Order: sequence, then C-alpha cells, then structure tokens
Amino acid sequence: MNTAVDQADFFKTLTEKSDSGTLRGDYSQADEQYVVKQNWGAYTSEQHALWRKLYERQARLVPDRACDVFIDSLAKMNASDAIPHFDRTSDALYKVTGWRLVAVPGLVPDLTFFEHLANRRFPVTVWLREPSEFDYIVEPDVFHDFFGHVPLLFNPIFADHMQEYGKGGLKALKLDGLTYLARLYWYTVEFGLIESPRGLRAYGAGILSSGGEIEYCLTSPNPRRIPFEVERVMRTLYKIDSYQETYFVIRDFQQLFNDTAPDFAPLYEKLKTLEALPADSLLAGEIDLGPNRGLS
Ligand code: PHE
Ligand code: CO
Repeated sequence: MNTAVDQADFFKTLTEKSDSGTLRGDYSQADEQYVVKQNWGAYTSEQHALWRKLYERQARLVPDRACDVFIDSLAKMNASDAIPHFDRTSDALYKVTGWRLVAVPGLVPDLTFFEHLANRRFPVTVWLREPSEFDYIVEPDVFHDFFGHVPLLFNPIFADHMQEYGKGGLKALKLDGLTYLARLYWYTVEFGLIESPRGLRAYGAGILSSGGEIEYCLTSPNPRRIPFEVERVMRTLYKIDSYQETYFVIRDFQQLFNDTAPDFAPLYEKLKTLEALPADSLLAGEIDLGPNRGLS
C-alpha cells in the first residue's frame, strides 16, 4: 500500500464530509496502520471526571436494556472510575478471545479499519468528547468506542463475527460492495437489537453508548423492529443524525454469525440492481415486533 497517497486520499474525503473541514484527532503521530500511543497520562482530571459521569449514567441504564453479554463483560472491565488504560483491558481481552485493542486518533480509512478487524485488533479512539457533547456526539470518541464496542468482544461468537466482518470488508472493497456492508454494520454492530427471554435488548454500540436511544429503541412506539434478514438490511438506508427509524432484531449471536457466513459476492451483484429502501420502510409480510412493555 502506498501510505502517503492513501492518507492524502483519506483526508480529502473526510474534509469534504465534515462541517469543520477537519478531523478532531491528532494524526501527526500515527503509524501506517493509524495506531498511536494512548498517552494515558495526558488526560486531565476534568476528562476523567467527565468519563465517570458518562459511565455512571450509562451503567444505570444498561440493566434490563443491554444484552446479558454486555452487562457481564462491562462489570468485569473495571472501567467506571477513569478513562481506562487500553493496554490493561487489551491484556484481559486477549486472554478471553484473542482480541487486542489499539489506540487510534479517530476515524481511520476503511482499508485500515478492516485490516485491524481481520487481525483481531479493535481500534479505539483516544480522545474524549467535550462536556457540551455529553448527550450527543458526531464523530466516535473513546466513550463510544470503549464503552459501546469493547464489552461484546469478550464474547467468543461475536468476536469471531467481527473478525469475519473485517475479512469481508477487505473483500467488499474489491467487489464494490462497501455500501451494503456498511449498512449491515450500522444495523447490527452499531444499532442492533437482540431477543432475550425477558424481551428485546440492545447489543449495538451506538445504542449502548447513548443516554437517549437506549431507552427509545426498546420502548418508543415510533420505530420499526423487524426480524434480522441480511438482504433486507443491506438494502436499507439509514439516518446518521437522528434516532433510528428501524431496528433489526437477531435471535442470538450465532444467527448473526451464521447468516453472514455465506459468500456475499452474488448478493452484492443482486443488490446493485435493486432500489434502496427508505429507513422507515415496512414491507408486505414483515412483522413489526413492537416495543417492550413494562420498562420505565
Ligand atoms: N460472508 C461475507 C462475504 O463473503 C463476509 C462477512 C462475514 C461479512 C461476516 C460480514 C460479516 O463477503
Ligand atoms: Co461505533
């Protein structure tokens, strides 16, 4: 890979995409894989205090709303008191599922992201949001990446799925399938719901790191909650600046793993001939599972 050209390309795309014209992170120290040192000592006591507040609010919301795997793993991560040392969690994680955490300045190019996942490395952003962004943040920060994504990597099936996703991403780049694969990621890893004996639960990191959506996705009468189906998900557009209009529900992580195992090459070809569906579609014959009852 020609890193210089690739990086120039990446920054051009991002500056076109972002309002401010710049990314928030400091990319000056990043290596070819966009990895940096976490530099834990540089976090201020105000930042640790903000982390504690974010963590406290969210930890209070997860019982009855997050899937059991998330709740159990989070409890073992000891991350409530301060912005965590990535290395410590990484060592613990490695012993359980063979994954490691790597520190990154922020968003990384698709190719880099997929290469990390394919090698069982999860990139975690080093910077923390500002106090004014307590409820909502545009670019992922350390709270979203760490609190939202890392707990599920302790689950062997989900961990394997994430590696397969990374390999699938490298493949999709060559097949012009990234649009479809990105929708899959959005509606599962970021905003997925899962069935449990006691009703629907959240497993998507975008939900689990959000103070509002974690409640909304389970109890609001507004959004659709539709049983997960790969082709349907890959056809569906999504909103990045509001709560989701549709959530897709898996039965368990084995279903997610099994349903995404087949070769997507023919599916991408088919999807290229189909019209995308609006985020709030409900197709003939589809069941809306409806909100959970009895929660706050
Ligand atoms: N099975 C997919 C393919 O052939 C790869 C993949 C696996 C994608 C798991 C996402 C999740 O491209
Ligand atoms: Co995320």
